[in-house]
Amino acid sequence: MSKYLLKPLAVASLLALAHPLAASAQDADAGEKVFRKCKACHMVGEDAKNRVGPELNNLLGRQAGTVPDFKYSKAMEAKGNDGLVWDDDTLSEYLENPKKYVKGTKMSFAGLRKETEIQDVIAYLKTFSEAAGTPAETESKAEEPAKNDEAAAAAEPVQTAAASDGDVLPKDAEVPDHGVFHLGRKALPDEVEAWNIDIRPDGSGLPVGRGTVAQGEVIYTETCAVCHGVFGEGEGRWPVLAGGQGTLEDDRPEKTIGSYWPYLSTVFDYVRRAMPFGNAHSLSDNGVYSVVAYLLYLNDVVTDEEFELSNENFASIKLPNEENFIADNRLEEPAYAAKEEPCMKECKPGPVEITMRARVLDVTPDSEDDSVGAGAIE
Ligand code: HEC
Ligand code: HEC
Repeated sequence: MSKYLLKPLAVASLLALAHPLAASAQDADAGEKVFRKCKACHMVGEDAKNRVGPELNNLLGRQAGTVPDFKYSKAMEAKGNDGLVWDDDTLSEYLENPKKYVKGTKMSFAGLRKETEIQDVIAYLKTFSEAAGTPAETESKAEEPAKNDEAAAAAEPVQTAAASDGDVLPKDAEVPDHGVFHLGRKALPDEVEAWNIDIRPDGSGLPVGRGTVAQGEVIYTETCAVCHGVFGEGEGRWPVLAGGQGTLEDDRPEKTIGSYWPYLSTVFDYVRRAMPFGNAHSLSDNGVYSVVAYLLYLNDVVTDEEFELSNENFASIKLPNEENFIADNRLEEPAYAAKEEPCMKECKPGPVEITMRARVLDVTPDSEDDSVGAGAIE
């Protein structure tokens, strides 16, 4: 067992000598409970590793932003270089309001509101800090980031968060059961699967399936034509799904799948998610493949009624307008490239003049009289 780990009481009396101000209020045992709030991101103790946040062994006396292999924010590194060393006072201030004390820190933690919590958690961290007068704990088990075995077992494979930097968990970090911000619970695999239906232009995310133009024509005629017209020309003011090629430079371009849309994955996703309007999710995956094949046919992207669209050949289909879309390379925009702050007020010299007005752009008819519809602006 840990012969080095001081009992909370002993820690408290040692502190009484070292730091009379904080001593009376610090209670390492209570601090262990407070540390639960930190566990989602930090480890401390033997085998502690960097997680979302750096490991917190030997924190007291440590220069801020210096744990090897941890990618700190620039702000935290700068604070360390300016001489910030973690001790009772600096930790108290930081933990009360991290974003205020280190402007630009990537620790997404609102802070501890109660002074006693702050003092207690510092006391707890001291039990893992040699510089605090207590040898670092070497023998007891490492504090693992919080885990709920039952939920974890039910939720294999372990779900990971999507984004990487700053306010969210990095890609490979486990989402704690209580959620990153202690809200909600970990989603179950079935729930994730039900939501996770997006499809990428390269076809990733597609369900296995297939369907021909001829099969699609049957479905389309029965379930889509009432609104979108037999040939995709649109009934009344319902959206047009075909045609419009060569109109993009007109005053009123006709933007359709064939004339405008860059990727077939959007068509598949849109239809699977939202169509037929009012009865979404009523088509099978094969049904969606067939009807999308038929939309390609209506747009002259394929000409053979026997053409079969499947998850295998999907990525090989290119829509005519794809090449006119360019990747958003914002970093090359002059203002960003020069790292200038974007202009946020009074950017246009001189008085503002209205040169044009928006026309009715809404595609979902909700009124007999367009001029009073939601999108009607004169
Ligand atoms: C949501 C994740 C998260 C939570 C919760 C969190 N931290 Fe952090 N913590 C971080 C990150 C990320 C950093 C690195 C900050 C930076 O680089 O700006 C950090 C940095 C720190 C540092 C500076 C360490 C160093 O090496 O300079 C201390 C001290 C710290 N956290 C203590 C705590 C304590 C104590 C708690 C609980 C009361 C806590 N943190 C809760 C993510 C978190
Ligand atoms: C009851 C009328 C209705 C039916 C039936 C219907 N749709 Fe739609 N569809 C709409 C409306 C309305 C929109 C536009 C929704 C919006 O943008 O708010 C739309 C949009 C679309 C779009 C996107 C068009 C664009 O350019 O933005 C596609 C593709 C589409 N529908 C395909 C289908 C297919 C395939 C079916 C049959 C399986 C179908 N729709 C059945 C009403 C309908």
